[in-house]
Amino acid sequence: MQNAPEQPSDFYTLRYSTALNDLHVTVFSEVYDDYFGQSSLMSTADYDRVSGWLEANDTHTVLDVGCGGGAPSLRLAERTGCSVVGVDASPQAIELANNRASASTHRVRFLQHNASIALPFADGTFDGLICLDALAHLRDHQSVFIEWSRVLKRHGYVVFTNNLITGPISNEEVAARTPSGYFEFAIPGSDEHFLGQAGFKWTLTADLTPSLTALALRHCKARERHALELRALEGDAMFEVQNHYRAVMERLVRERRLSHFAYVAQKN
Ligand SMILES: C[S@@+](CC[C@H](N)C(=O)[O-])C[C@H]1O[C@@H](n2cnc3c(N)ncnc32)[C@H](O)[C@@H]1O
Repeated sequence: MQNAPEQPSDFYTLRYSTALNDLHVTVFSEVYDDYFGQSSLMSTADYDRVSGWLEANDTHTVLDVGCGGGAPSLRLAERTGCSVVGVDASPQAIELANNRASASTHRVRFLQHNASIALPFADGTFDGLICLDALAHLRDHQSVFIEWSRVLKRHGYVVFTNNLITGPISNEEVAARTPSGYFEFAIPGSDEHFLGQAGFKWTLTADLTPSLTALALRHCKARERHALELRALEGDAMFEVQNHYRAVMERLVRERRLSHFAYVAQKN
């Protein structure tokens, strides 16, 4: 695995900025039913499906890779009783996650770490691992899966989501779709192949593209409704980048040229 620090992305610095928090809550509450603080492309219902797939319980410790602002880790801990350790490259995300954790009674802790490099945990530490809408930001997925296998106990489950190229996409669309730092798309079958090489048995694939398509449209509309406040806080340049990103994403998933899948696999 490479040992290079990841450059912080302006996209996520803005996403987790405390100055934008109230406006984000307003906008995202119009995008997601039962918004609980996620910063992904996933519906709240899909997060709750993840808890079931993971088969976590109150004796388990789960690693959340690319945990963002910590709300999904806390929701998982709340729903299953497990303890959760979250890692994320963004210092702003970890600050937000730690604030949320300090206001909670659940067993969660968070640390800043670049998950493209070796994880700071001993072999066989975790009973389960989730990586929700963060794998695309990690370099060399085969090495990442090998590292996940190392830190998992035998028969531990991983649940992750990923973006697949399922149709023709232009270089302009790729550029518009990836304003959030390093981004690696998968193709159908590539994750299953790399999982097998890393010692996992693939158990389930779920197509989340229909719910993403609905969320992407709701996001464009919510941004239109709050355009004045968003532009003032994001600045003109980032406001335009975000709008273009959301519009291109909506078109790509609606036309099925880009797809969004969840995977469940078990360590052999
Ligand atoms: C789309 S957000 C998803 C956050 C969270 N999993 C959720 O569901 O709300 C992707 C996250 O990946 C993090 N990330 C990007 N590159 C990373 C890296 N190299 N190592 C760890 N986290 C990374 C970002 O900071 C961001 O919080």
